[in-house]
This record gives sequence, C-alpha cells and structure tokens, in this order.
Amino acid sequence: MFESLRAVPADPILNLSVLYRQDTNPNKVDLGVGVYKDETGHTAIMKAVSRAEERLLVEEDTKAYVGMAGSKRFCDLLAQVTLGADHQVLTDKRVAVAQTPGGSGALRVLAEFINVAKPGATVWVGNPTWANHIPVMQSAGLIIKQYPYYNSETQAVDFDAMLATLETEPEAGDVVLLHGCCHNPSGADLTIEQWQATADLIKAKGLLPYVDIAYQGLGEGMDEDAAGLRLMANTVPEMVIASSCSKNFGLYRERTGTAMIIASTSEHASLAQSQMHSVIRANYSMPPSHGALVVETILADPKLKQMWRDELKTMRKRIKDLRSQLVDAIKAEGVQQDFSFIERQKGMFSFLGVNAEQVDQLVNKHSVYLVGSSRINLAGLNQHNIAYVAKSIAAVL
Ligand code: LMR
Repeated sequence: MFESLRAVPADPILNLSVLYRQDTNPNKVDLGVGVYKDETGHTAIMKAVSRAEERLLVEEDTKAYVGMAGSKRFCDLLAQVTLGADHQVLTDKRVAVAQTPGGSGALRVLAEFINVAKPGATVWVGNPTWANHIPVMQSAGLIIKQYPYYNSETQAVDFDAMLATLETEPEAGDVVLLHGCCHNPSGADLTIEQWQATADLIKAKGLLPYVDIAYQGLGEGMDEDAAGLRLMANTVPEMVIASSCSKNFGLYRERTGTAMIIASTSEHASLAQSQMHSVIRANYSMPPSHGALVVETILADPKLKQMWRDELKTMRKRIKDLRSQLVDAIKAEGVQQDFSFIERQKGMFSFLGVNAEQVDQLVNKHSVYLVGSSRINLAGLNQHNIAYVAKSIAAVL
C-alpha cells in the first residue's frame, strides 16, 4: 500500500530550524520560526510560567482526563482575555469555548466546525497569509480563495483592493479569515477604522468572520491588540476566533489555545458547543492539560498576572526596539533603499522585501535564516547579531 506514497516538500517555516541546527557557521542567525528569543538568543521560560508550574507541582492532584473542551476555568478566563471581561457577547452568553492543542488545534477545530455547519464552505484568506492556514482549512474540507492584503510596493495593507474584492466576490455564507493583530507574515495590521469598515461589509453581506489571534500582546498591548476583534464581535451576529498562548505565554510546546464561537443567541451557542465537542472527540478526544493549567493559574492570581504582564511588556518593547535598530543598522551600511516600513509594522514579523535569489544568498552564503517569502522574525535579532544581519542584507541587495 505504501509504495505509492510520495515525499511531501519540507515545511517552509519549521524546516528552517532543522537547517539552522545543522549549520556550523559560528555567525549563523535564526530569523525563521516565530518564537521569541532574548538577548542571548534563548527562548526562556517566562518567570510567571515557572512560578505557576512550581505551584502546580505541589497542588495538582490528578492526571485524570479533562473533558473534550478542557478546563472550564481556562476557557472562561481566555474568553475574557480575548474579548474583554465585560464584552456584551459574554454577558449575553453567546460564546462557546473550547481549550485546544495550540492555535493550530483551534484553527482545525473551527474549520471542521464550519464544515459541519456548511459543508465545503469557501474561506477567503488574505494574500499573503500564514503558510499553514491553507493546509489546515483544506484538510478540513473547506475551499480556499484569496483576497489581496499586503502591497509589497507600498509595504502596507492594500485596503482598497481588499475591500473591493470582499465587496464583489464572496457570497453570503462564505468565511473571511482575518489576523487579529501582528499580521503573520507581513506585520501590517488593519487600523481600527479599517476593522470597522470590514465588519460593516461582513455584516451587510452575511459573511462569517474567522479571526486568528496568535500574537495578542506582542503588538501594542493585550487590549489594544484585540480592539479590532472586539469591535467585530460587537458588529456581527456570528463569528469564530482561534487564539493561541504559544507566544504571549511562551508555551509553544505545551500546545495551548482556544477555539471560540460567537453565535447569534445563547441557544445557538449551546448547539455550537456540542458540535465542537463532537469535532474534538472524533479528532484528538481532549486537549493536553498542562499549558492551560499554567495559564489559568497565572490569570487567576493577581501577583502572577502582573508578573506575566510585565514580562510581556518587556518582550513587546524589545521587539519594537529591534525594529528601529535594524532599520538604523541597515542605513549604517550605506544602503539607500528605505527600510523604515519595518518600524511601522507590528509583532514578530516583517517582509524584508528581497527576492528569492537574495533570500537564497542570505541563507546559504551568510547563514541568516529567513522564510522564502523574505519574512524575518525580528525577535531573533540581538545586540550580537544585528550588525552582521544588516551587513549581510546590504551584501545581497
Ligand atoms: C510561525 O509562523 O513561524 C509560527 O507560527 C510557527 C509555525 O508553526 O509556523
């Protein structure tokens, strides 16, 4: 049976870590996979996470199964973190929530849920979008179409083109995937006015917004980064949200995320919750527990919560500083081309805007690892490697 199988091309993002580890160049720099690194290039465990784990070591008294939707307390806390504690949809009990194995698990659960509600539904994703969005949606049975998003000439969102496509092409019942904040891969986010215009259009056309928020807190702040999503939830009757604790709690390998469904009534939310359970049961049965327990321990304790917020603020500020420092360092290499757009973008990623051959040289000649699309992870820069990265960029331009 297996002789007919063909090897699948390596993952365009995750494979960079494999290549980086194999590289023996002492100057190598990893700007590939989206993980936060500190000044020493290490992805350290956040202190609030370690404190919560110490507490759990003493207090956790069972490893019995959690339910299909995981911990109710975690789900409630995460819904508040994402939507804001006093959001009307929470007061109205219009939200179904499930703890999932990371943001990717949430994306898949929601995609399968949509495929139950409307088999073979069309999902409109921005061009570009996170490389894994398309396989996740397609393997759940959904059809993918694209709307324009990032303009590489202006290095900004092409909002007119985006709106024009969404106005004319999707049909009622189609799904529109949006990034909550810190757009991956471009770092170019919608303004709050653009969120409102998109929400109005989605409502008028009867589309379903599907918001992926994987970087909340790494752009402008926990509330600021969720402002567009919260506004959307105020405007439309139905919506789905995939959120991740990988980056803002640094829990990458613990696979901690949340799938949320906002329905038009609390009765519909109960139906959605039961359908979500059925999708989960047929898939991985129930989520891993540890990461969610850590998160709920932090969020339920004012001291730990403050510690976590402070650490997140330090990470956010450091990424912003690195953005400015990279722009300055490239300028200092005598490069005429304007890279100041990097300072205007948010979160971990920006496109350098160099071509495939230049990316190839950066990776294979200079050992500066970045995604083929020219996406760099700003959080991989530090005071030891930033000048080398700038020099390497200048060399390939
Ligand atoms: C990324 O985009 O680098 C991260 O979201 C990690 C991943 O799974 O691709």
